[in-house]
Amino acid sequence: MIRILTLMENRMGEHKGLTAEHGLSFLIEGDGKRILFDCGSGENTLKNAVKLNVDPASVDILAFSHSHYDHAAGFLSLAEQGLRAETYIGEGFFQEKYADCGQGKYTYLGCGFSEAYLRDHVSSLTVNQGTVRLTDHCVLETSFPRVHAFEQVPSRFVKWDGKEMAQDLFEDEQCLVLDLGEEIAVVVGCSHPGILNMLSEVRRRWQKPICAVLGGTHLVEADEERTRQTIREMKAMGIRNLGLNHCSGAQAEEWIDQDETVIHTHLSVGACMFME
Ligand SMILES: [Fe+2]
Repeated sequence: MIRILTLMENRMGEHKGLTAEHGLSFLIEGDGKRILFDCGSGENTLKNAVKLNVDPASVDILAFSHSHYDHAAGFLSLAEQGLRAETYIGEGFFQEKYADCGQGKYTYLGCGFSEAYLRDHVSSLTVNQGTVRLTDHCVLETSFPRVHAFEQVPSRFVKWDGKEMAQDLFEDEQCLVLDLGEEIAVVVGCSHPGILNMLSEVRRRWQKPICAVLGGTHLVEADEERTRQTIREMKAMGIRNLGLNHCSGAQAEEWIDQDETVIHTHLSVGACMFME
């Protein structure tokens, strides 16, 4: 049995003592291990974790979906309270991330800590080049070919590579695959490379049907046609269980809610799912 617990998410759920804010953090428990997938944007992830009976020091493995602040910056508070995990990042995680606001103005969107700080507060640090097995049933995947041309990354996302500002294509993005035997479930952070690009590659590597997708799909910035096509293609893949949240967008979630052929529940703060 695998439990996926939402430590941070944009929306409040039934536990009114928790704090919701823009960001994402999931705790995945299974195979006798605790995996933290993303850390949210600040100290409220730690506060929620404490209220959800999760001691940061008890986390065995940490994986960042990418280095945007809303997924990574909460690491600082968790590390101060004892988080020392075997840690996995994608290639290019430490390139400085910005939003291009036009007229020469940029907003820093990065993780807010250095590689040296991270190395000082983890038990080991690995840069995932493709596939890393974390436990018997949990595997990290990165490096997603862009096969769906309509899944364009917004040009306002840029990165500073030390010499110039370039478009950020999110080579560092990782997702977590839960092996459920005959089928797999995919946990995503923000899906910046395109949710279909990610799912297509996961399916190609695993040769197993994807039954569920949980997390942020970044359809919040997609137009109507892209959103409809994404939902169509996810259904065509056989995905029937969705736990979307964070950056998935109200429009996408509304349309999926109205679709009786798929089960959807928004994974708000404190919400958990059990899978086997
Ligand atoms: Fe995000």
